[in-house]
Amino acid sequence: MGPPGAGKGTQASRLARAIGIPHLSTGDMLRSNVADDTELGRQAKAFMEAGDLVPDELVTAMVIDRLGQDDARCGFLLDGYPRNPAQADALADAFGEDVLELAILLEVDPDELVTRLLTRGQQQGRTDDTEEVIRNRLAVYEEQTAPLVAYYESHGRLASLDGLGSIPDVFGRIIEVLAT
Ligand code: AP5
Ligand code: MG
Repeated sequence: MGPPGAGKGTQASRLARAIGIPHLSTGDMLRSNVADDTELGRQAKAFMEAGDLVPDELVTAMVIDRLGQDDARCGFLLDGYPRNPAQADALADAFGEDVLELAILLEVDPDELVTRLLTRGQQQGRTDDTEEVIRNRLAVYEEQTAPLVAYYESHGRLASLDGLGSIPDVFGRIIEVLAT
């Protein structure tokens, strides 16, 4: 978990490789649907371009389908899902309350987030990495996703860590948390 630009994708791909489980990024899955111009991609595109959440039922159906595939049977690392309490409930309804072992929260201050995302926008051209859309993504995170932090904390399933510093340093903190 973490706001846009916190390093979820960067760290999740390293961690998934290290543990040998699939990295399931709903953002990546949606972007690939948009690129392939699928029905889901066509429905999701405008929400993503505005930095709003894609409707829960679309994303949840996509995630449930993906978690049912063979490679996810021995574990998986979700990146970007659940993103609001309704999605957390849907996941628990589909796979049980214990479906998620731990939520890892990467904490990074807003100035650093904006800098990272604007830099990525210049380098990679992700269409939602513009100043206006970044501002909306941050607001959507605060309003809709941040309440999940308390939810996982109250279930004793939250590990918060400092997401500032080099990519290997942050990865080291994640490994430390998992080892304890
Ligand atoms: P999504 O793709 O999940 O985007 P996001 O949450 O806005 O986050 P980012 O992917 O931008 O950031 P990140 O935390 O992964 O950071 P990253 O590692 O890339 O979602 C996109 C859209 O899809 C949403 O707006 C929504 O429309 C839709 N969507 C997705 N999931 C959904 C859901 N569940 N429900 C509804 N809609 C959904 O790093 C960012 C940059 O910083 C990179 O350039 C990286 O190289 C750099 N960086 C990383 N770590 C460091 C570091 N330690 N120091 C310096 N730079 C760093
Ligand atoms: Mg990401």
